[in-house]
Amino acid sequence: MHSGLTPPQGVWWKPAGSQEKTWIRISFVWCMIMFAIMPLWHWKGGQNPSGIRGRTNPRAFRERTDRFIKDYQVGVEKGIPVVAPPAGADLYVEASMWMWRPILKLKKGSSYVLHLSSFDINHGFSLYPMNINFQVVPGYDYGLKVTPNRSGDLRIICNEFCGVGHHSMTGKILVEE
Ligand code: CUA
Repeated sequence: MHSGLTPPQGVWWKPAGSQEKTWIRISFVWCMIMFAIMPLWHWKGGQNPSGIRGRTNPRAFRERTDRFIKDYQVGVEKGIPVVAPPAGADLYVEASMWMWRPILKLKKGSSYVLHLSSFDINHGFSLYPMNINFQVVPGYDYGLKVTPNRSGDLRIICNEFCGVGHHSMTGKILVEE
């Protein structure tokens, strides 16, 4: 019979045995290693963003994106412009509720600088089926150096909840041989 008045049955108040102490030491050492890895990874890790982050404002970024579209547009797909910029170009992709604009047509093996920003609220840039993941924040221009290394039809998926249309917020990057 258990009640709040009787003490619980168990051995947890007895001192830890030698095996348990060994495991506590192992996990403590492992915690310290993981802790040291965080700053180490920050300076030495290959996962750090390759580009630059700068300030912008939503209007200015939209104007820059519009200019980019005007310069290199080759078509339209479901109302979204399709652009094919030359190798080495600065690419501008704007996130807004709930679309990515424009659709990019890139060449495999060519390098570009991909600028990401948002027109309204926070969105998340993830590229399927690759493992890329960035916050897209209004007021910040996130420039990433990218060199597509395989051809195909990549999908941009918003991974930051941004309202009722979040689940339908997909974009496209086409990489050609
Ligand atoms: Cu944009 Cu979720």
